[in-house]
Amino acid sequence: MSSPPSKPVADSRAVINEIVLPNDTNSLGNMMGGRLLHLMDKCAAISAQRHANRVCVTASVDNVEFQAPIRGGDVVVIESQVNRAFRTSMEVELNVWAENPKEQTRKKSNRAFYTFVALDEDSNPIEIPAVDPQTQEEEERYAAAAKRREVRLVLAGRLGLEDAANLRDDMRAAIQASPSRA
Ligand SMILES: CC(C)(COP(=O)(O)OP(=O)(O)OC[C@H]1O[C@@H](n2cnc3c(N)ncnc32)[C@H](O)[C@@H]1OP(=O)(O)O)[C@@H](O)C(=O)NCCC(=O)NCCS
Repeated sequence: MSSPPSKPVADSRAVINEIVLPNDTNSLGNMMGGRLLHLMDKCAAISAQRHANRVCVTASVDNVEFQAPIRGGDVVVIESQVNRAFRTSMEVELNVWAENPKEQTRKKSNRAFYTFVALDEDSNPIEIPAVDPQTQEEEERYAAAAKRREVRLVLAGRLGLEDAANLRDDMRAAIQASPSRA
């Protein structure tokens, strides 16, 4: 069977805007991390399904860093897109901001990478369209996604370091460039 035709990043973009209410916050009045992760997972699933036109499940979530608290009353804005598709899996990038409508401020809260897998009618992984990057920024994200994939598969014990070609090349370049080699 031939591969499905590639798709632009723009086809997978998704945005969720949500006001943070008392039920979403901890005792300090900040949005709870788990509540944010839930919304991020939903936004990422929309992007994955827009790209694959299939039911998609979360396979992994890379380390998530909460850079700044999101306060009760803020509007949390989550943006996601598929950076790169592999065979049945894809990397979804999420960027999160906290908006304070009264003060008219917008602060970056976090960034994360989720991996989703597309499933067929029998819940087996199925091949998905490739991503066709169209801007320099999309190209850079596309290239970086291959390296991150190797890191997450090595950490998950699904790929041996000896088979992680991108990581090996980066390490080799770092060693070549180290001062002791000069
Ligand atoms: C994700 C899942 C479908 C993978 O199934 P599997 O039997 O391991 O399938 P495969 O080995 O064929 O892997 C399928 C793809 O997932 C990727 N994958 C699997 N585990 C991964 C991980 N930990 N991190 C990144 N990618 C992963 C593989 O690299 C492969 O990608 P590729 O086809 O693009 O190369 C399966 O583990 C599953 O159903 N998990 C539960 C999903 C779920 O319920 N999510 C919600 C959590 S609450």
